[in-house]
Amino acid sequence: MYNNILVESNDQISRITINRPDQLNALNKETIAELHNALKEANGDPSIGVIILTGSGEKSFVAGADIKEFAHFSIAEGGQLAANGQQTLFSYIENLSTPVIAAVNGFALGGGLELAMCSHIRVASSNARMGLPEVSLGVIPGYGGTQRLAHLVGRGKANEMVFTAGMINADDALQWGLVNYVVEQSDLIAKAEEIAGKILKNSPMAISAAIRSINANYEDGVNGFDVEIEEFGKCFGTADFKEGTTAFLEKRKANFR
Ligand code: COA
Repeated sequence: MYNNILVESNDQISRITINRPDQLNALNKETIAELHNALKEANGDPSIGVIILTGSGEKSFVAGADIKEFAHFSIAEGGQLAANGQQTLFSYIENLSTPVIAAVNGFALGGGLELAMCSHIRVASSNARMGLPEVSLGVIPGYGGTQRLAHLVGRGKANEMVFTAGMINADDALQWGLVNYVVEQSDLIAKAEEIAGKILKNSPMAISAAIRSINANYEDGVNGFDVEIEEFGKCFGTADFKEGTTAFLEKRKANFR
């Protein structure tokens, strides 16, 4: 059904694999559209509690936006490319109600690192290399990279990565806070699933409220503390809250699904 991605679901986890290995999984327009559709479907599926995003092959997560596709673009087309991408994929992922774990299995460059950064949690394999090389092409990151990188690693390191267009290795990414864990490539999906397993024990309604509340801190003109108060209050009206508190009082494990 898709030309550029693979989708499989197991044990409440949807794994979406970007599958253009001969192009190092570069994001062309069609891949972005397919990712949007697959993410929308997984997010709307009540049997899915976590989404894992990864790349096919052992070399690359995603080596960026597809340079071959945009090399001839005009100013207007360039702006449209960034706007469409942010709306349909990058901001879209960040605001999903289902948590997304990026399993970074190799190069995460440009749009690839931006894809990892808009995911809620990042795990990398030890061979992963990350960077925002856009200025080496005469352009800047356009899928949220100039904003999200500084949130994760601080402005000084973000400036260095963007201005030098250099790549960092997985250990530096771990030390800088760009990824949460680094594991051997053969253990990458297992590590992402281990984190997913811990998430899946908890209330999906509360997790989606937490995503909205945490994201509010990064939205202009929005007071995150006010959003937290509102989301906190709304939790009290959910079946999950009833189940979670009842289970605690009955000294049993909560069963949210
Ligand atoms: N867009 C389009 N095609 C890409 C791509 C991208 N971002 N990244 C890699 N590819 C393609 C290559 O053009 C090549 O295709 P071809 O066989 O049809 O020529 C194929 O993927 C393999 O890449 P190649 O460059 O031969 O692999 P390598 O191991 O020598 O180098 C990289 C790997 C990641 C260092 C190199 O591919 C690269 O620098 N890619 C671009 C990274 C980038 O600037 N991303 C930001 C884009 S905004």
